[in-house]
Amino acid sequence: MAEPVQTPQASFKPRIFSGIQPSGGLTLGNYLGALKRFVEKQNEGIETIYCMVDMHAITVWQDPERLRHQTREGAAAFIAAGIDPARSILFNQSQVTAHVELAWIFNCVARMGWMSRMTQWKDKTAGKNAEAASLGLFAYPALMAADILAYHATMVPVGEDQKQHLELTRDIAIKFNNDYKVDYFPVVEPLIEGAATRVMSLRDGTKKMSKSDASDQSRINLTDDADMIAAKIRKAKTDPEPLPDSPEGLKDRPEARNLVNIYAALAGHSVEQVIRDFAGAQFGTFKPALADLAVAKLSPITTEMNRLMQDPAEIDRILGRGAEQADAIARPILEKTYEIMGMVRSR
Ligand code: TYM
Repeated sequence: MAEPVQTPQASFKPRIFSGIQPSGGLTLGNYLGALKRFVEKQNEGIETIYCMVDMHAITVWQDPERLRHQTREGAAAFIAAGIDPARSILFNQSQVTAHVELAWIFNCVARMGWMSRMTQWKDKTAGKNAEAASLGLFAYPALMAADILAYHATMVPVGEDQKQHLELTRDIAIKFNNDYKVDYFPVVEPLIEGAATRVMSLRDGTKKMSKSDASDQSRINLTDDADMIAAKIRKAKTDPEPLPDSPEGLKDRPEARNLVNIYAALAGHSVEQVIRDFAGAQFGTFKPALADLAVAKLSPITTEMNRLMQDPAEIDRILGRGAEQADAIARPILEKTYEIMGMVRSR
């Protein structure tokens, strides 16, 4: 099928939306690829809306108690990392029904062929019985498009792995606009920036660091204490060579490149600068420096998360207030969508 073509757009107000699944504890990958950048965007003064996407999490089985805990813990991580609920809207997806309503509409806009080309769908069903996957898992990217477009968000900070889903979001917006001859949904811009857009596993530099990896040694969790962080970095897979004297020297060394990228992102330095500081160093020197830096940056977040988790009722209040604010933006956008499509709205 030919790619949809968008006609010139009316200008949309700059607005950021992004989300994280509460399908496990958050990792260093989520922190560097997403959370840390969410805070930077908030502090740049752009309108920011952030969501724990619990409806996405249930596309695979979730234990109810764990889901509840992980949703609150994820919200605590946002706040501990620097999201201020007075400046950003912070809520969980299932409390704002506009997401699933718009997702149904987008299920009718998106094509089966688009969905079956999603590499994340292919990866998650590879070698398994795709017939046994939930329908929700297949339709997942349409719900993601709904999350974003329910707010007419224009920019979406994410890690590299979400790029294809954002391209699909653009295609859905363009097809809706063309089908109904309107200029209603913005064509969003993915913000994939910085040294850590794809943090890799500590056990295998060719695999993404993931909350769902069977090996806990493969990732740093935001709940890990200082000793666990240091031990995981000490045991991280590397090669026997010292660090090179230029970034090009990391080209065929995925594990070394990963650790340098993590260092750069945590320190807020460029990869070039890290290479300049550690050229010729052995991992025996570099790993303890990285462990110290990771502990210095992550421990205060972990401590604050633990403190916030002492009062889950307060987290629920914050999510509830955020959901009200989110609903106030999304509901009129959804109502107008129904009107464009010819739904009778008479209550
Ligand atoms: P999720 O929950 O898998 O990850 C949340 C965010 O963290 C980023 N990320 C990483 N970045 C760098 N290195 C890694 N190893 C790493 N692992 C995860 C992800 O790219 C993401 O930005 N479908 C989304 C959630 C979602 C969403 C949305 C995002 C639902 N609706 C609307 C943006 C806008 C997901 O599963 O992310």
